[in-house]
Amino acid sequence: MTRKTASQHPSASARQAGGDGGFTWTRPHLLGLEDLSKEEILHIFRTAESFQEISTRSIKKVPALRGRVVVNLFFEDSTRTRTSFSLAAQRLSADVIDFAAARSSVTKGESLRDTVRNIEAMGVDVFVIRHPAGGAPHYITRCTNCHVINAGDGQHEHPTQGLIDIFTIRERKGRIEGLNVVIVGDISHSRVARSNLWGLNKLGANVTFVGPTTLVPRAFQEMGAKVTHDLDAALKDADVVNMLRIQRERMTSQVFPSTEEYVRLFGLTRERLKGTRPDLLILHPGPINRGVELASDVADGPNSSILRQVSNGLAIRMAVLYLVNQAGTAMPA
Ligand code: CP
Repeated sequence: MTRKTASQHPSASARQAGGDGGFTWTRPHLLGLEDLSKEEILHIFRTAESFQEISTRSIKKVPALRGRVVVNLFFEDSTRTRTSFSLAAQRLSADVIDFAAARSSVTKGESLRDTVRNIEAMGVDVFVIRHPAGGAPHYITRCTNCHVINAGDGQHEHPTQGLIDIFTIRERKGRIEGLNVVIVGDISHSRVARSNLWGLNKLGANVTFVGPTTLVPRAFQEMGAKVTHDLDAALKDADVVNMLRIQRERMTSQVFPSTEEYVRLFGLTRERLKGTRPDLLILHPGPINRGVELASDVADGPNSSILRQVSNGLAIRMAVLYLVNQAGTAMPA
């Protein structure tokens, strides 16, 4: 088992600005927001805030993870998550390996366990994994002594995206408690929706899921969300709307009559915004299908913080990489 030593926080301004709130991080892995406490989520946010300053320096690099090796183990395509985990690890001075399953010996039949154990044998410290199977990151914690970060597992969780969305809401609105957050679209296939729900509920927001009955089953009420199929009614009192992509690649049957019908009922257009609060915050985790869930002028309009989510992703991922490494010896979850 690999023994890790805690590295010092690189930003003195972080300590001056409120430090760690007296909280000690103990988790060697980040697998989902369902597992995290409110205090753990707030500690990630404090750490991310302290890392934001590093990205404003002319030399955007600190030695916090010097000598550590981070492996991006991606079995699904990605633009934002993969790039920002790579950049986050590099800003902390870690060495980064980008593993793409499509160009690896996985295509020759090598198992996930063997893939992980072979890469671990080269002396790596952290696996950042995206996988089409829910639970794959949890399984890897049982195959390796390295730290494991879930970068999206099937339809289960995407914890860093959930953290980014909630962090961006808190930055823009100044609080989470009591806010009405509406999440629209393909909820049933969405790991982002699930991670948002777990995190937002813990921090005291009211979450409403909206979409076609085929994509937003009433069963989500048992997880703590309000469920409705009337977007205009849900938007009337909304402080935040998070628009999700229709994940055609995960669908096995036609779940709504046509794209035109979907846009009419669930697309966010300038016309639809007329019935909402003027300060409605618009989010989207990306990638956007412009003209489907979001009209282009809304995606790029004054209420949108979509690119701010991407910028915040870097600080959140720096914080998560830093914290799991602080947790010392990697042990099973
Ligand atoms: N939001 C998100 O996970 O985007 P990517 O699929 O591009 O990583």
